Amino acid sequence: MKITIIGTGYVGLVTGVGLAELGHTVYCVDTIKEKIDFLQKGQAPFYEPDLEKLLKKNIKSKRLMFSVSLAEVINKTDFLFICVGTPPQANGSADLSYVYAVAEQIKDLANNSKIVVVKSTVPVGTNAKVESILAKNIRQRPTRLWREKAKFSVVSCPEFLREGRAIYDFFHSDRLVVGSTNEKSAKAVADLFGKVKAQKVITTRETAELIKYASNAFLATKISFINEIANLCDKVKADVTEVALGMGLDKRINPYFLKAGIGYGGSCFPKDVKALRQISGGNGYDFKLLKAVIEVNGKQRKIFMEKIKKVLGNLNNKKIGLLGLAFKDNTDDIRESAAIDLAKYLVKAGAMVTAYDAKATLNAKKVLGNKINFVASAYEAVKNVDAIIIATEWPEFIKLDWLQIKKLMKQPIIFDGKNLLDPEQMKKNKFNYYSVGR
Ligand code: UGA
Repeated sequence: MKITIIGTGYVGLVTGVGLAELGHTVYCVDTIKEKIDFLQKGQAPFYEPDLEKLLKKNIKSKRLMFSVSLAEVINKTDFLFICVGTPPQANGSADLSYVYAVAEQIKDLANNSKIVVVKSTVPVGTNAKVESILAKNIRQRPTRLWREKAKFSVVSCPEFLREGRAIYDFFHSDRLVVGSTNEKSAKAVADLFGKVKAQKVITTRETAELIKYASNAFLATKISFINEIANLCDKVKADVTEVALGMGLDKRINPYFLKAGIGYGGSCFPKDVKALRQISGGNGYDFKLLKAVIEVNGKQRKIFMEKIKKVLGNLNNKKIGLLGLAFKDNTDDIRESAAIDLAKYLVKAGAMVTAYDAKATLNAKKVLGNKINFVASAYEAVKNVDAIIIATEWPEFIKLDWLQIKKLMKQPIIFDGKNLLDPEQMKKNKFNYYSVGR
């Protein structure tokens, strides 16, 4: 099939590359010229494991093409995927201006029937609104021939990819959710992903839109729940890792997303939980649980900082080695990263911070500038420091030579915000080791 992807962020680019790899002909469009130039050379604009490999492979086989002009490619294809951002507004609700702007362009440019697939995370009712924008086209062009030719079907197909594992998730997703008012269009969209063995959920557009928000909000709720349990563990001398293990063995609970720490970050959970609260409020329903989920997540970073202050005392002129800047491992993304918040807090308190992250340094420099030092290895970051803070769950931190690190530090204090290291081992290595709920 021939597909246009509009927007080459995480969702758009991974979807485009994935669909090309499945054998479709894909044109990816973005308004940012430098990004398109980069992509045409087979270079990914962000770090995502295996993305560049598949990018290069599919460009070479001419199944994947890039353009800055929607007009140039739109009428070569039958499926149009809207994958533009829906950033949060000041009140938490999703900004849909990019989605609607794309719908307006499609309305003006398409000259034959299209299936328009909305992959962006959008509030309930957005797909219907996109359809009403597209319908104006038909009304604007009054000939019978045009009306018969240009028909748009708008299908909701929300995305469930995780950053850092997005390519893997594309080919191994648990489910494919397709929301449509038209059975034939729903089947056509599901068939595009036919080679991926995912459970198909064919439903209404409103339900599909809500499945996306409900899924992210539920996962965020699991994290805030286990973080509250961790805080309680600290008070009653229980171990949250073992509590989570014991809970997770119950298949009804499952062990995933029960890792306690300094709270969730990224471009999705913080934004989507707030947006779902707005959607509820806007529909006259007060979703009380989500308010607590958001509050707990914000509090978690503060509690961790309090722990650090309690142990180190006045932070002025204290030297801190910060391990991790990304919002999680395997990504260079720092959006809503707890590590960045901690760095800002430490700087404000007068501490001298040296940070290391395998992928996110460049992005972190853009927001932190020269307020902290950036180095190229974990060993450099810990030289002569009063304490180490682990703020991202990079697996490489587990494998560090911690006895060697102890020798490099001024004093052997570790604050592990991601519960990455083994407390017993750290005790044996004679570290003063503090983590979350253990
Ligand atoms: C999340 C969802 O997991 C995806 O299914 C969804 O498609 C995506 O949002 C999206 O809406 O686009 P992502 O934000 O990439 O994916 O990352 P996650 O792996 O879900 O992690 C989010 C945050 O939660 C990270 O800061 C991570 O450190 C934290 N986390 C995760 C925990 O604190 N504990 C856990 O047990 C798991």
